[in-house]
Amino acid sequence: MIKTEILPQEEGINQAAELILKGELVAFATETVYGLGADYSNADAVKKIFEAKGRPQDNPLIVHIAKSEDASLICDDIPLEYFELAKKFMPGPLTVVLKKKTSVPDIVTAGGQTVAVRTPQNVWARKLIELSRPLAAPSANRSKHISPTTAQHVYNDLNGRIKLILDGGECNVGIESTVLDLTESIPTILRPGAVTAEMLSQIFCAVKENNTVKLNVAKSPGMKYEHYAPNCTAVIAKSTESAAVAYDKAKNSGLKPIYLCLSCEDFSDKEKMELGKSVEDFAKNYYSALRIAENNYNFIIIQELKGGGLAASVMNRAIKSANCNFV
Ligand code: TXA
Ligand code: MG
Repeated sequence: MIKTEILPQEEGINQAAELILKGELVAFATETVYGLGADYSNADAVKKIFEAKGRPQDNPLIVHIAKSEDASLICDDIPLEYFELAKKFMPGPLTVVLKKKTSVPDIVTAGGQTVAVRTPQNVWARKLIELSRPLAAPSANRSKHISPTTAQHVYNDLNGRIKLILDGGECNVGIESTVLDLTESIPTILRPGAVTAEMLSQIFCAVKENNTVKLNVAKSPGMKYEHYAPNCTAVIAKSTESAAVAYDKAKNSGLKPIYLCLSCEDFSDKEKMELGKSVEDFAKNYYSALRIAENNYNFIIIQELKGGGLAASVMNRAIKSANCNFV
């Protein structure tokens, strides 16, 4: 079994770059969630990502670059809009799907003609890329499990499977990047995130939002897999009242329920985990809370956040965690 080391990112950076150049995997922090990186140009190294995660090979990876201009190393026919987006949102939680260069190995794009690129905010992630190579990297969780937002989450999922985790503390955004496809005639959001449709409409006169729950299987293969799922039943509560009813019902049938919600006075006689005061707090703490909940309870009730923007993006993940079950 491989020994998995966790090092502060500033301490482990050189070792991490060496590992990448040798064709090994390194987990690293970004502003969204932790990534599991390999040299994108080394097909054997990229294969190890799929093995370590147990990820199906028909699910393509995002290539992480040190600066947005580096997309030209990986992509052909980059439209002007990409550079407009870069000015506003990069580095940041936005991934853009573009036409790939033929030099990008098939395993990165699952054989497709497009490639997803992203410039992460974390300066150590970008430093690692500068010192080594652009990194093909999915979220650093076991396939289908909850995305990791701390180094310890990565360790819990991948201990014994990778050599090094660069610890960059807690991720600030807490949910995965927005994936925007620029290869369609109308820019299309394949996965909603912190860069919202409202924000993108400052640049485009039209943005298509795919209903990723009903799924655009052909276009973003990752979306067809069950994602973001705790290892026990979860439901989304449309109101505090329905949450309380579901809570009591679960409790009466011998389950151990927990309510994940924004700070509130309600539920004082029941077990709840408050994720903060704002939608931003909720997004940041959501995956951590799910991991704590699945380890200590066995029935998770998630408060429905109403509204568009980031609230809708977090609910996109919650709907998957709950397998579309509402109460
Ligand atoms: O925030 C994030 O995006 C994190 C951090 C590490 O950067 N990464 C991440 O990667 O969430 P992953 O592999 O867990 O999710 C990538 C999503 C998948 O749904 C995948 O199918 C989609 O992006 N994707 C990747 N390449 C694509 C492509 N060429 N066309 C369409 N969808 C693509
Ligand atoms: Mg993932």
